[in-house]
This record gives sequence, structure tokens and C-alpha cells, in this order.
Amino acid sequence: MEQQVQKQRIFSGIQPTGNLTLGNYIGALRNFGILQDEYDCLYSIVDMHALTVRQNPAELRKACLRTMAIFLASGLDPEKNIIYFQSQVAAHAELGWILNCFTYMGEMSRMTQFKDKSAKHADNINCGLFTYPVLMAADILLYQTHLVPIGADQKQHLEIARDIAERFNGVYGDVFVVPDGYFPKVGARVMSLQEPTRKMSKSDPEDTYIAILDRPDVIRKKIRRAKTDSENAVVFDPENKPGVANLMSIMAALSGRSMDEIAAEYDGKGYGVFKDAVADCVIATLEPIQNEYDRISADKAYLQQVMDSGRERAAAIAHRTMLKVRKKLGIAPWKL
Ligand code: AMP
Ligand code: TRP
Repeated sequence: MEQQVQKQRIFSGIQPTGNLTLGNYIGALRNFGILQDEYDCLYSIVDMHALTVRQNPAELRKACLRTMAIFLASGLDPEKNIIYFQSQVAAHAELGWILNCFTYMGEMSRMTQFKDKSAKHADNINCGLFTYPVLMAADILLYQTHLVPIGADQKQHLEIARDIAERFNGVYGDVFVVPDGYFPKVGARVMSLQEPTRKMSKSDPEDTYIAILDRPDVIRKKIRRAKTDSENAVVFDPENKPGVANLMSIMAALSGRSMDEIAAEYDGKGYGVFKDAVADCVIATLEPIQNEYDRISADKAYLQQVMDSGRERAAAIAHRTMLKVRKKLGIAPWKL
């Protein structure tokens, strides 16, 4: 008799703020597509996380839909994967509250993203910003997730999710799967084009990042202006030549070539030629995604259907975990 093997589960999320960048693509989105056949995957547009910073409602709404269309355009099949909005599955908030009661103030105050964001938004250091990693832990644990594809900047948050899961399991038995992170081998931290010692971020100025939806001429211009150094030598040395190392990593991540191959090919050719080749490589990756995006984002009926079906399928899995959690905690059951 043929035995059906249960696939392991994957969960990941991206915030619908600003423009998704090449960093989001290389660090996360591209892996989502690579993993979709082997695993049972949920990919969420985490709109509740976006509320930790003040948002313009009309802009946020547009950004939510744009993010979903980018997920689809980058090759995620909505039949194979559950693609949905976090705020439409109430169990995220419910489990988030419960896990807040299993997380310590000290743990949260050590989070580097909290420190960075509270410095950036000093006039609005709200409690949501502080407990952001707890909501992220709820996202992951709600679906009994085995693997979480993320960029290197989210490593600390994943560690906390593991700690919270282990702590809860320690008290109540095996309630949650303890998740592992899945990081890209190259490009886990794509750097800013203008300050290559900082990560590329969609909340920084335009010229520091490449948006997934930047058209070819814009991409070429931004890469030509990317900060390098005065040596004119294509050598991988992140410490002393962070700008060149970043461009080499982008090329390596997108082309699958090694740093040695890239260094050998552009040896003595100078930065002009090298930067143009990096731009070609980025354009070759993003242009087909943009064409798909243009097609998909015009099809509102399709987007509506993906949104509705994603919500229902996600909610059904979340419901099972919440039944278990409620029972273990002794809070009011849904059925007597
Ligand atoms: P966010 O835009 O903060 O919601 O991030 C969504 C995903 O993209 C997370 O898995 C991040 O780790 C990843 N990511 C964001 N920026 C970068 C970057 N510059 N390099 C690599 N991965 C990134
Ligand atoms: N915090 C992540 C970021 O800013 C986004 C996120 C929210 C996430 N919930 C998640 C990523 C769950 C992976 C799994 O990048």
C-alpha cells in the first residue's frame, strides 16, 4: 500500500510597507519559490506587523495588494501555497496575546531591531513595537512550522520564537513544533547601495535600494551610482571593499556563480564593465517578475479569489492549534 508522507511545514512573512526590495527577494522571496514543491507552505503578508509604525490607510491598503501580487508574480503558486493576509486570521492576535504572557521584558529589550526602530521612531515607541517578535513567534507557532525562510536580520527573532516554543512546551507538553531558520547561502544580507555596511532596507532613501518593481533603466542607474572604492579591482573583501563585495554577492546569488568565478571574469576590467554586468543580471531576474506583476495586478477577481481561499485555508490550520492551546491553558473552550 502506498503510504502518504506528510510534508514538513514552512511559514514566512513579509511586511507590506514601502517597496519590496532586491534584499527581500534574495533573502526571502526567492527561497519561497524554491521550497514550494518540497514543503507545505504558508506565506503571509504581515499587515499587523506594519501597524507598529504609523501608516497611511490608503497607502497601506495598496501596499498589501501590491505585496500579494509580487508574491504571485515571483512564481508562488496559490494552489500549492497558502498566500494570505495576517490580519484576516484572528488567531494570530489571539496566540500573540497568550505568548506575551510567556515572554520576558528583558528578552524583548535585547532585540536589535527594537533598538534600531525605537531610535528611528523616537516619538512613537509603542508596546506593539516592543512585542513585535512575540507576534512573529505566534505567526510561526500557530501553523506548527518546521522551517522559516528568512534573511539574516531575522535570526534573532527566530531564536526568540524557538525559546518561547520550548518554554511553553516545557510547561504544557509538546504543543508547538520548534522551528528552524532557513537562510540563503549567499545574499542573506544584501547591503545598501550607498552605505554598504548597512542592510538594504525599503524604509531608507530611494537610491539606497533596488525595488523589485524598479524598471530596467532605474536599476541600471542605481547600480552605476552604487558606492564602491577607488581601487577599480573586482575582489571579494567585505571588510575593506564592502560596496564591491555587495555587488559581487548580488551577482553570485542571482547567477549561481562563485565569487572566484566572478572575480576571475572581471579581473582587470574595471568597475564600469562589472557594474553593467551586475545590472544585466538583476534586470534579467526582475524584468519577467515585473511583466507578470503587471498582468496579475490588473486582475482584481483573481486577487480576491487568492485572498479568500488563503484566509480560509490558513484559518482552518490555525484553529486546530488554538483548540490545543486553549485546552492546555484551561481557558474557555468553544464547545462544552
Ligand atoms: P521585511 O521587509 O522586514 O518584512 O523582511 C521580509 C523578509 O526579507 C525577511 O525574511 C527579511 O529577513 C528579508 N530581508 C529584508 N531585507 C533584507 C536584506 N537587505 N537582505 C536579505 N534579506 C532581507
Ligand atoms: N519580522 C519579519 C521582518 O520584518 C516579518 C515577519 C513577521 C516574519 N512574521 C514572520 C518572517 C514570521 C518570518 C516568519 O522581516
